[in-house]
Amino acid sequence: MRGCFITIEGGEGAGKSSNIEFVRRHLEQHGIKPVVTREPGGTPLGESIRTLLLDERNSEIANDTELLLMFAARAQHLAEVINPALQEGKWVLCDRFTDATFAYQGGGRGIPRQRIAALEQWVQQGLEPDLTLLLDIPVWQGLARAGKRSAPDRFEREQAAFFERVRKVYLEQARRYPERFRVIDASRAQEKVQQTLADVLTAWLSER
Ligand code: TMP
Repeated sequence: MRGCFITIEGGEGAGKSSNIEFVRRHLEQHGIKPVVTREPGGTPLGESIRTLLLDERNSEIANDTELLLMFAARAQHLAEVINPALQEGKWVLCDRFTDATFAYQGGGRGIPRQRIAALEQWVQQGLEPDLTLLLDIPVWQGLARAGKRSAPDRFEREQAAFFERVRKVYLEQARRYPERFRVIDASRAQEKVQQTLADVLTAWLSER
């Protein structure tokens, strides 16, 4: 039986890194040892593409180039890591996936949804996450949290209006696919967020 594919999404400063660790530990407590990976990246080639995408010196990258690089990294990630793991029955926990492309390249950059959907179909051939945890936080609050970290990358340099569009599309995706999305209010204290994550995961695992 194919393994489960879980993705974690959210805007800047939503707390993805610490919460993905929490989700990993929660799954391990249930006897599931997931393959934990990320996008863009997750393979040597994908990590090289990630470096190009995040490098703030590459400010001339055209929107379509950015979109295609995201899907190039994803195609490699699927071929080398995600599909083989799922086929072996392993679970995959991925920090961002195609919902991020709809949010950032679609919402943020304004690329038409249909164009992204065509690439999604081409590259994923019907594969979708089984569960997507969306850590939702008001943009001002996320940016205030993210601002406390190191030098901003090419995406982190965007203005608040860009991240408002990103958030809007994430929430639209959640409404479009209610069966796989769980929206978590990440504006609260860490313990509260993690309590909700634990409840959501326990409920989801028991339904399976
Ligand atoms: P990270 O900081 O969560 O690791 O993600 C790196 C950046 O890449 C983040 O600013 C969001 C962006 N991104 C996209 O724009 N489109 C995508 O499809 C993915 C996966 C990430």
